[in-house]
Amino acid sequence: MRSEQWISELLAKLAREGLERRLAVHPADGAVCDFTSNDYLNLSTHPDVVAAMQAGTMVGSGASRLVSGTREIHQEFEQQLAAYFGKPAALVFGAGYLANLGLLSSYLGRNDTVFADRLVHASLIDGIQLSDARHQRFQHNDAAHLEQLLVKTGTTRKPGERWLVVVESVYSMDGDVAPLAAIAELAIEHDAQLLVDEAHALGVFGPAGRGVAAELDISDQVPLVTGTLSKAFGSYGGVVVASDFVRQLLVNRARPFIYNTALPPALLLAASESLRIIGSQAGLGDKLLELAAHFRRELHEQGLEVGPSASQIVPVMVGDNQQAVQLAEALHERGILVKAIRPPTVPVGTARLRFSVTLAHNEQLLTHTAQAVAEAARSIGQLE
Ligand SMILES: Cc1ncc(COP(=O)(O)O)c(C=O)c1O
Repeated sequence: MRSEQWISELLAKLAREGLERRLAVHPADGAVCDFTSNDYLNLSTHPDVVAAMQAGTMVGSGASRLVSGTREIHQEFEQQLAAYFGKPAALVFGAGYLANLGLLSSYLGRNDTVFADRLVHASLIDGIQLSDARHQRFQHNDAAHLEQLLVKTGTTRKPGERWLVVVESVYSMDGDVAPLAAIAELAIEHDAQLLVDEAHALGVFGPAGRGVAAELDISDQVPLVTGTLSKAFGSYGGVVVASDFVRQLLVNRARPFIYNTALPPALLLAASESLRIIGSQAGLGDKLLELAAHFRRELHEQGLEVGPSASQIVPVMVGDNQQAVQLAEALHERGILVKAIRPPTVPVGTARLRFSVTLAHNEQLLTHTAQAVAEAARSIGQLE
């Protein structure tokens, strides 16, 4: 149809630039070795988690939280989560994306300023945009640059202007860890609040998987924590962990909370069981991090570039978009499922394969995979 000409032109342009995206059905279980899943602790298929979900009596919640969607499991889980983090309150959202959108858009207004790491997740950027706050971006994981911006912006700070520093603890596409202690110190020194998205750290880093802030013992310096139940928790949904006041603010102001059907009880029953497992089985995160370190060493030995990863997220850097896709395809032919990550998800010129190590993997398999990546890269002329 003529009116849709612009769409076909746009799609053709994306294809020319190696940026077209297509949905693909996940291969049958066992058909490939999967490195695409954020189900880091393999809990989405854990028998106790599945059983907890099945023990529920309802799937959907039927209405938004403020209408009649708040069930006992919502209250219970939020209390469990707050206790787990040692914070006053928690609130669940329909997804981690919505939690970030809801928190940022209700916490900040047009007269406020956000200082965000250059590589924060799209959900944080969208939340900042929705808030209308002034947006300053500092170089990735560069506390010195953040300090420069805080000092410079301080000269024009208006009375009552709220400041918020926004970072992730573990970055989703590089797998590196933020210098959180330095950032928290700066936030306090410059009278700014701090939001840490622990989406990829929960269940993996820190005592009982409580995240990087807990690992560094600086949780009391991080007033706003967001996360997701969709990764290590193996379920679905988003969370904000903060003060009672912030929780009340969100209940009253966060549109992605107010105008969204409440998170299905079935998913919360599963998440609650995952929380119990994560909290009670010591060493799950450590085991995962050891596997990832082994994988990085093996890739390195093969002459592959893994960037600054220090977590279960291990990128193999390629650079060119088409070459990244080619390499992913060459690995698929070898029974390894991994996705090429391209702009705008990562900066231009930094396309990569993002390997997500999980407890479904073991050392032997990771060694084999590193060899297969090198072999595939050589077969298409990307490695000597
Ligand atoms: C850092 C970060 N924050 C938030 C989200 C969004 O979480 P969810 O998938 O639950 O919407 C993601 C997921 O991709 C993420 O990587």
